[in-house]
Amino acid sequence: MERRVFMRLAGGGVVLAAAAGGLAGCSVFEVPDSAVAAWQGPAPDAELRHWVLSYALLAPNPHNRQPWLADLATPGEIVLRLDPQRLLPATDPYGRQILMGAGAFLELLVLAAAERGQRAEIRLFPDGEPGQRLDGRAFARVRLLPDAGAAPDPLFKQVLARRTDRRAYDPARAIAPADVQRLRNAVAGLPLRLGLAGAADTLADDRSRLDGIRAIAREAWRIELSTEAPMMESMRLLRVGSAEIDQHRDGITIDSPLLVVLAKTGLFDRSTFPAPDSSATRGQIQDFDALTASTPAYLWLVSEGNQRSQQIAAGRAYARINLAATATGLALHPNEQSLQEFDAVAAPYRAIHALLDAPQPGNTVQMLARLGYLPAGTAPRTPAPRRGLARQLAA
Ligand SMILES: Cc1cc2nc3c(=O)[nH]c(=O)nc-3n(C[C@H](O)[C@H](O)[C@H](O)COP(=O)(O)O)c2cc1C
Repeated sequence: MERRVFMRLAGGGVVLAAAAGGLAGCSVFEVPDSAVAAWQGPAPDAELRHWVLSYALLAPNPHNRQPWLADLATPGEIVLRLDPQRLLPATDPYGRQILMGAGAFLELLVLAAAERGQRAEIRLFPDGEPGQRLDGRAFARVRLLPDAGAAPDPLFKQVLARRTDRRAYDPARAIAPADVQRLRNAVAGLPLRLGLAGAADTLADDRSRLDGIRAIAREAWRIELSTEAPMMESMRLLRVGSAEIDQHRDGITIDSPLLVVLAKTGLFDRSTFPAPDSSATRGQIQDFDALTASTPAYLWLVSEGNQRSQQIAAGRAYARINLAATATGLALHPNEQSLQEFDAVAAPYRAIHALLDAPQPGNTVQMLARLGYLPAGTAPRTPAPRRGLARQLAA
C-alpha cells in the first residue's frame, strides 16, 4: 500500500485519495530537503567507513524501514546489525525481504568501497545465522582492505540517481533489446536466475505469461488490502506531511495536500482497519488494476533454495538491476505481494512460483517487479527519505 490511502472521516464515511503530488511551494506538504539530504552523498573528505556507509544507506529496502545499524568500534571494520524494532512481522514474517534490503545495502557498500580503491571483505552472519525470525545479531562483518586491483564499477555512478518508481509506465513502449541485455549483464554470473516477460523483441513474445503475472499480482494486492495485520502494518508506516516525513525519514511518504490537511485536522484515521468491501478498498484495487494493466513488462529473480545467504544475494542482485535500469532510463517497481509468506497469500505464492518456472520446494522467487519506461516528459521522482548516517550508527 504505497500510493493510495484511506481516510476515515468524522461521521463514519471513508474516502480514498491519491498519495502523490504536492503543492509546489507549500512547505507543509512537500518532502523537506532535510529528509532527502542523504541523496547529496557524503562530503568528499569523509572518513572512509562513513563515506561508504553514506552510499550504502541509499539502498532500496522494504517499506523504507532502513533497519541497518553500523558498529564501528573496531578500526577498519564495520559490523552490521538489524534493528529488531524496524522489522515487518506482518508482511515479512520470516524477514526474507528485510534481508534482501540488507543485501542491497552490502552491494552499494561494495561498489562505494571499490570507488575508493578498497576491497570490502564480507563475512555473513559472523555470530551465526538467524532462525525463522530475524534477531539483533550481526548480518555481516565487513573489513575494508586497500586493493590496487579493485576496479570501480560503472554502476556506482547510478547510486544517487536510483529510485523506486511506482508511477504508470508507457504501455506502448517495448523494452529495447540492448536494455534487456544491460540488465542481464548486471547480474551475469550471480547465483540467481533473472526472468523477464513483456513487450520486447527478446522477451520471447511472452504474452500469456505477462497476463498471468498481472492476474496474480492483482489478486495478491487485493488480499493484502483485505487482511488486517499487513494492511495495518502499512498504515502505521504512513508519514503524512512535511513534519512527519522529516521526523521519521522512513516509511511511506504521503505528500498529498488533501491528506495532509485531513491529518492535521484529525480526520484521517490511521488506527482502524478499512473494511475490505468499503468503497475505499475497492477504489485502491481498481487503481492498482489500472497500473498493472498498463505495465509493459515484469522482471523476477529466482534462487535455488531460500537460505539466509541466498536472500542477501538476491538483494545484492536486485540492487544491481535497479542501478542498471537507472543507467538505461528504465523504471522499476517491486510488487512483492504474491511473494510474501503470510497465510492469506499462500495461493498467489504457489501460483507465481508455478508460472515463473520456479517449482517448489527448492526454488524461491525473491523479487517480482514492474518494468518499463516512463512516458516522455515525466518529471523526475523525488527521492525517498533517508534517516541519515548519524541515526544508523550503533551507540
Ligand atoms: C525486498 C524489497 C521489497 C520491496 N517491495 C515493494 C513492494 O511490494 N511495493 C513497493 O511499492 N515497493 C517495494 N519495494 C521498494 C521500497 O519500498 C523502496 O526501496 C523504499 O521505499 C525506498 O525507496 P527507494 O528505492 O526509491 O530509495 C521493495 C524493496 C525491496 C528491496
